[in-house]
Amino acid sequence: MSAQYDAIGAKYVGWKDTPVPTYAEVPSVRKLLAGRIEWRSVLDLACGTGYYSRLFTQWGAARVVGVDVSETMVAAARDAEARAPLGIEYRVADVADLPQVGSFDLATATYLLHYAETPETMSRMCRNIAANLKPGGLLMALLPEPDYVMGRGDTERYGFTYRLVASDKDWRLVHADVHTNPPFSIEYRHWARAVFDEAVRSAGFADLRWHPFEVSPEGLAKFGPGYWRDLIENPMSAILTARLPVSSGR
Ligand SMILES: C[S@@+](CC[C@H](N)C(=O)[O-])C[C@H]1O[C@@H](n2cnc3c(N)ncnc32)[C@H](O)[C@@H]1O
Repeated sequence: MSAQYDAIGAKYVGWKDTPVPTYAEVPSVRKLLAGRIEWRSVLDLACGTGYYSRLFTQWGAARVVGVDVSETMVAAARDAEARAPLGIEYRVADVADLPQVGSFDLATATYLLHYAETPETMSRMCRNIAANLKPGGLLMALLPEPDYVMGRGDTERYGFTYRLVASDKDWRLVHADVHTNPPFSIEYRHWARAVFDEAVRSAGFADLRWHPFEVSPEGLAKFGPGYWRDLIENPMSAILTARLPVSSGR
């Protein structure tokens, strides 16, 4: 499933200009990282075209390294860095096989863990992330909301439609058509919450917290509360944070 991004490439960035990322996702991530990113080193996993990597430097990170399995996505990120240098380093790697890149204060995984094909692969990703964090290091993962109710509410107004492809006891496989210009389609898994929690815990993280998206005051003022009702009542994404113990014993 991760190979699909070689075809999507820079088309993905169009999604970030739509209302949900602009007025809910990014402000929610910003709020969570306030006071936790300034002057810190950040490993941005599944960095894609470097959208968040660049924001993290603007939000005050001292050093940002972006990692993505897709050469196409990393090439787009490096192009952006070459056009407007921010000192971000990008690497191509599968997080399931991630080597020691460094020892970071913060690891971000925006839309990564659900691309693991099995719970075991997800656990391996989390162990590799933990191995690249300092003791006490923070993980911030953006994920498909496990309790999302498919078919409830209107997603078209948010710029995408989707259908259920298959499901099992621990996951639902979703095909989404994203109506950006140019449009693109993706497939991803809504894993059960227990699978994410177990993968993160088994890698040594503690203090797991799930955070819902919040709509920014600008988003509320621009579109009105009615526009956001479906997103608030049935959010499609959520943020999971967790921390390594200060004395990890690793
Ligand atoms: C939805 S995009 C998110 C990109 C970026 N984090 C953002 O929010 O703009 C998902 C990214 O995950 C990457 N990815 C999927 N599986 C991966 C893996 N096993 N290791 C590293 N990157 C992976 C894809 O190549 C793609 O760039």
